[in-house]
Amino acid sequence: MTFKELTLQRASVRSFTTRQVEDEKIDYMLECARMAPSAVNFQPWHFYVVQGADARAAVQRSYDREWFKGAPLYIVCSVRHDEEWVRQLDGKPHGNIDIAIAAQHLCLAAADCGLGSCWVCNFDAPMLHDALSMAQNEEPAVIVAVGYPDGEIAGKKRKDINNIVTRL
Ligand SMILES: Cc1cc2nc3c(=O)[nH]c(=O)nc-3n(C[C@H](O)[C@H](O)[C@H](O)COP(=O)(O)O)c2cc1C
Repeated sequence: MTFKELTLQRASVRSFTTRQVEDEKIDYMLECARMAPSAVNFQPWHFYVVQGADARAAVQRSYDREWFKGAPLYIVCSVRHDEEWVRQLDGKPHGNIDIAIAAQHLCLAAADCGLGSCWVCNFDAPMLHDALSMAQNEEPAVIVAVGYPDGEIAGKKRKDINNIVTRL
């Protein structure tokens, strides 16, 4: 698969079979996330691999959607704000940029393994923070739902290239 083909293969999957995700594939995804770049290489992130019944139920309570309950695996990606780089010039924190790159590495790695995934950010963050006993300076940023796709991968709807690029 070329990199472009991988970016097409990675699409939001919201319907999964009951097949469990193999440990080797979970390790592969995590290793790819670990290799993501981060500002000043601070790596201000943590990944919670959620498979146990109690933790699964807690994650599902934080994002109450039927399709989401069918995912066999959740990887919760958090930012540790006390470890992130903050730009001195204007005080902009960069942990959310770092975690987005790492989460996308997870999703691309999932696609590389024949898995489907979906980014989820529309969850109850305080609820998830407490359920996973996160530290005070830690923020749950993304839940990546992962599993084997049940059905075809959807095509892409994207803005036209001319509307998003300025060549100077
Ligand atoms: C930051 C971010 C947050 C998202 N949050 C959700 C979400 O809470 N629930 C959901 O079903 N999809 C969510 N998505 C998936 C987007 O809807 C999806 O990526 C977009 O429609 C493009 O489709 P594609 O992923 O298939 O290319 C999110 C995606 C991103 C990047």
